Amino acid sequence: MNVGFIGTGRITRRLIRGLDHQEHAITITRRSESVSSELVAEDPAIEVVETAQEVVNRSEAVFVCLAADVAREVLPRVSFSRGHAVISVMAGFPLEELRSAVSPATEICVTIPMPVIEQGGCPLPVYPASLALETLYGPRNPVIPVVNESALEPFWAVSGTMASVLEELRTIAAWLGDRIGDADAAERYVTHLFGAQLSDLQTDTAGRLDTVLQDLSIGGGLNATLHDRIEGSGHYDELRAGLDALYDRVRSQGNAG
Ligand SMILES: NC(=O)c1ccc[n+]([C@@H]2O[C@H](COP(=O)([O-])OP(=O)(O)OC[C@H]3O[C@@H](n4cnc5c(N)ncnc54)[C@H](OP(=O)(O)O)[C@@H]3O)[C@@H](O)[C@H]2O)c1
Repeated sequence: MNVGFIGTGRITRRLIRGLDHQEHAITITRRSESVSSELVAEDPAIEVVETAQEVVNRSEAVFVCLAADVAREVLPRVSFSRGHAVISVMAGFPLEELRSAVSPATEICVTIPMPVIEQGGCPLPVYPASLALETLYGPRNPVIPVVNESALEPFWAVSGTMASVLEELRTIAAWLGDRIGDADAAERYVTHLFGAQLSDLQTDTAGRLDTVLQDLSIGGGLNATLHDRIEGSGHYDELRAGLDALYDRVRSQGNAG
């Protein structure tokens, strides 16, 4: 498929690295120049053009990867045709607004990629279901169609938990590094321990998290002791309250924030 990206920033870099470059022809805009030149150094077959219109002209599927306010300036100056599939990854840009901005294209959707899409295995909530997204990323990532646009909103909120969870791992690794005097070994231990545990957790049905937690929760054991202490501190209540606040923010901005 001919696939183009409007906006060549952080998420585009990851999306492009996560594509099968043998299967798909890729066009990007020069901006951000540091990213576009890095991507072309990795794959000289990537076409670099100056404008969003040139991206659209060369593509069957177009990813819009701009900040929402920038998209409001850029998209009205771009002409799409009915046959284009348009995939927005933008927070704060409702589907209805996208529909009118890219008319007469009708195959449009919103999805939420995260940087890990570069490696594959990134869950992709999407509304509405998109054949183009499935074709491009489905082979390496679980695509999760949701029932309506509002159902994307709690996924946007949860996408905002990554830094807090990673901070917990960093805290643990730093603590270990201080004790053993070897930051590399500490980070290796922690990332491999949790990497292995997280890949064992992947499932398509509810209950796996409960099972693993129960296995770790032997009364008086190390895991149960720390878990009880952290729970008693109100940490998980704060996490739920933080998620509620993100969800309110996302809803106030209409689909995403
Ligand atoms: N980063 C993530 O993990 C992530 C995850 C999910 C969704 N998203 C969404 O993806 C979108 C982009 O996020 P990002 O993190 O990739 O942002 P970013 O790194 O700031 O990239 C934005 C891109 O837009 C380009 N741009 C700005 N004005 C432009 C114009 N007038 N014409 C053409 N290109 C222009 C920028 O180029 P210059 O650098 O030259 O200005 C840059 O390449 C946002 O809506 C965000 O909500 C991001």
